[in-house]
Amino acid sequence: MTTTLLSDIGLLVTNEPALGAGPTGELTDAALLIADGTVAWSGAAVDAASAIAELGLGPLSAVQRLSAGGACVIPGFVDSHSHLVFGGDRAAEFEARMGGRTYEAGGIRSTVAATRAASDEELRARLAGFIAELHAQGTTTVEIKSGYGLSVEAEERLVRLAAEVTDEVTFLGAHVVPAEYASRENGADEYVELVTGEMLAACAPHAKWVDVFCETGAFTVAQSRRVLQAGIAAGLAPRVHASQLGPGDGVRLAVELGAASVDHCTYLSDEDVAALAASSTVATLLPGVEFSTRQPYPSGRRLIDAGVTVAIACDTNPGSSFTSSMPFCIAVAVRDMGMTPAEALWAATAGGAAALRRTDVGRLSAGARADLVQLRTPSYVHLAYRPGVPLVERVWKDGVRVA
Ligand code: NIG
Ligand code: FE
Repeated sequence: MTTTLLSDIGLLVTNEPALGAGPTGELTDAALLIADGTVAWSGAAVDAASAIAELGLGPLSAVQRLSAGGACVIPGFVDSHSHLVFGGDRAAEFEARMGGRTYEAGGIRSTVAATRAASDEELRARLAGFIAELHAQGTTTVEIKSGYGLSVEAEERLVRLAAEVTDEVTFLGAHVVPAEYASRENGADEYVELVTGEMLAACAPHAKWVDVFCETGAFTVAQSRRVLQAGIAAGLAPRVHASQLGPGDGVRLAVELGAASVDHCTYLSDEDVAALAASSTVATLLPGVEFSTRQPYPSGRRLIDAGVTVAIACDTNPGSSFTSSMPFCIAVAVRDMGMTPAEALWAATAGGAAALRRTDVGRLSAGARADLVQLRTPSYVHLAYRPGVPLVERVWKDGVRVA
């Protein structure tokens, strides 16, 4: 087993308050030890040699040494919401939207047609490209949803392909009612029947999570409850898309069912905020969506001040948010959602981990996975301060360089 010592870290974000300053557990002049794909130790650089000896990771001469050159090192981003398995794109829809058209959930159906028409190999190649794109931007954990198949076979294929690249797979058969059901009387309820029956049975073995788009134009609260409860009965844990296009009862449904996360939260009532604050459900904000649909930005400040746990994710998809850049989302959250750079970084790392109920990622302390990012800058503040500039220097996942 090789031990690697990453030293000369000008600023280390551990997200472990016991190790350093503030909720982000920040240390200056720090070092970090990687052994067997995990963080063996992190702390002040002056203590590294004694940590190596105490942990039996020596001899010192056998330790591989790397220098961060005084730069900032942060946990790898945990992107807890994406839709990366799809065919085609919707650039023309985006262009029309920038010309004044409004975003509608129905646009999902055009990606369903393109996805159904794509071969496994095309979808796999696209996924591999996205994973490389994520690594290059510092993302080391990503959740991937199905939802562009919307038939038993097509959804099963999407969760199966997603499971080839991540452990965080979400069954989203209830993304929208597909065209062949939407045209029928009672078509939506018949489709929910399919989702909660045969489709769930085919998809559950490949998935960890069940999700539903609880929104006007997609699924009602009653239908969403049926989908989530069936998923829970099949052993999946719930997460919800809610309050994206307007206010509704989806956030409270998510809290009621103990969802790990409720995502979008663009239109929240005071009751929604209070319900979230009293729960363990994470509010996941998706800044790329408001950016690319021209919806109003929700206030991260309001949520954090109320005591809600907030995550930030990209929601990479061809319709509402085709960015895969967590640094971009951090910049928008700071600029337009009232979050401080430290809060936004926490939300994009530890917050994402909380939204996935993971304790092994999103932090850089002993026992965590060695998923880390060396920036090109002395501080993570630059992620918001220098938007659009590639600031990721090196990325490790499970202790292995991936970018
Ligand atoms: O999270 N809200 C529902 N689903 C996606 C959008 C999907 C699409 O437009 O293709 C989202 O924004
Ligand atoms: Fe989404």
